[in-house]
Amino acid sequence: TILVLDFGGQYNQLIARRVRECNVYCEVKPYTTPLEELKAMQPKGFIFTGGPNSVYDAASPKVDPAIFTLGVPVLGICYGCQLMAQTLGGEVTAAQDSTAREYGRTETHFSPCRLFEGLPEQSVTWMSHGDFIARLPEGFRACAVTEHCPTGAIADEVRGFYGVQFHPEVNHTEHGQDMIRNFLYRVCGCTGTWNMGDYMRSSIAAIREKVGSGKVLLALSGGVDSSVAAALIAEAVGDQLTCVFVDHGLMRKNEGDEVEAAFRKWDLHFVRVDAEARFLGKLAGVTEPERKRKIIGEEFIRVFEDEAKKIGRVDYLAQGTIYPDVIESGAGDAAVIKSHHNVGGLPDFVDFKEIIEPLRLLFKDEVRQLGRELGLPEYLVMRQPFPGPGLAIRVLGEITREKLDTLRDADAIFREELANAGLAYSVSQYFAVLTNMRSVGVMGDSRTYDYTLALRGVTTTDFMTADWARIPYDVLDRTSARIVNEVPHINRIVYDITSKPPATIEWE
Ligand code: XMP
Repeated sequence: TILVLDFGGQYNQLIARRVRECNVYCEVKPYTTPLEELKAMQPKGFIFTGGPNSVYDAASPKVDPAIFTLGVPVLGICYGCQLMAQTLGGEVTAAQDSTAREYGRTETHFSPCRLFEGLPEQSVTWMSHGDFIARLPEGFRACAVTEHCPTGAIADEVRGFYGVQFHPEVNHTEHGQDMIRNFLYRVCGCTGTWNMGDYMRSSIAAIREKVGSGKVLLALSGGVDSSVAAALIAEAVGDQLTCVFVDHGLMRKNEGDEVEAAFRKWDLHFVRVDAEARFLGKLAGVTEPERKRKIIGEEFIRVFEDEAKKIGRVDYLAQGTIYPDVIESGAGDAAVIKSHHNVGGLPDFVDFKEIIEPLRLLFKDEVRQLGRELGLPEYLVMRQPFPGPGLAIRVLGEITREKLDTLRDADAIFREELANAGLAYSVSQYFAVLTNMRSVGVMGDSRTYDYTLALRGVTTTDFMTADWARIPYDVLDRTSARIVNEVPHINRIVYDITSKPPATIEWE
């Protein structure tokens, strides 16, 4: 185990992820964790994270100096580096003039030490500091310099203490991952044999221990995150878990059945609420996108609440929160472009004592890997993002059951053709939109007056900005021909070639 001691920096979970990428198990612990507790975990190394404070402020986070007497290697990053230097008798001061503060990409020269073994003597690091180490503690030497900072990295190779002023965990630091690997393998003696299967087993054990004989409730949306969370908890505590899957009738073709089928192998309580009539009733006559979202969000809570009442008091409410959600929610309030309704945010309505979020430390690709490890089918694990309000925001204007069915059939054909073309996972998100525009066409010998369907495909990494996907013409051609032939009431197909911005990914 590697213990990452958290001093409040913004990249702390990223450090943990980098360690796991080296196939080494690690846990993030608050810096206030008592030394005895840390010791009991028998760590092979500590990583001290960055943090927003200055070590010379009296109120700044400190460590128990005894941590340096355990014989366990330490890698200090930014604040963590300064803290180590100060605690061991060095001196940290504010950079005198503004040129000596470093932020962003910085050319850095390295001198030999185990941390930089096998790496070039010069490369770019990512700095973010206003303080620097003015005097080294005894036993240390500087082993990286930049134009403005003589102590870009420090090392006491005898004791295995290393500190870097820059952030090796971010991608902008060219060989950051190699440095972390060097610390883990060469300094701490880790072997790199840990994997997602181990993560799964330790998570299951942790959930079992925490939940005991308690009851857990989870709102399952059918998306990747809540599905993997549900599978993990089901594996841990079986029928102590109740999953409420609200089928609002706004899902894609066969999706509800697929989700249900995926959970058959566990003995959890799987409650599928057929709420289509309720939702469509509430949505009748509504055309305004934000009102649709609001209605669906509220109705969702009400349906969930009704089910929760039947179950009575539970001990835990489980959520599929993943690490990017954790970062995003801490990132201040960006302007609301669309009021995204997610299945989170329910707790006010359910009687429970604590929330559990077993995926909180994982990134999306790790969640997918965990899902596979748990034996969830590939169609679920690789599912593209799907908006909480579902097809309601892909049927433009008024929603009816008939329009939803038309859209479902067309969308299924588009998905099938992309899959056949081997593009299912290279286009980030793709779907059909039923516009409320009708136009004239000719089929056989007769005039038609039917709906225009839009196809949308985008490539993106973060869904905040996106480009339209260059889907090959012949794939679009086959899709178009099939939809017009196989799906009644559609006589025209268009492909959306706007990026985001200025458009958004969804049409409503
Ligand atoms: P937009 O349309 O804002 O979509 O470019 C960005 C991403 O968010 C998804 N999306 C939603 N997800 N509730 C959700 O849970 C919503 O109301 C919602 N609206 C859009 C969209 O599918 C895309 O992945």
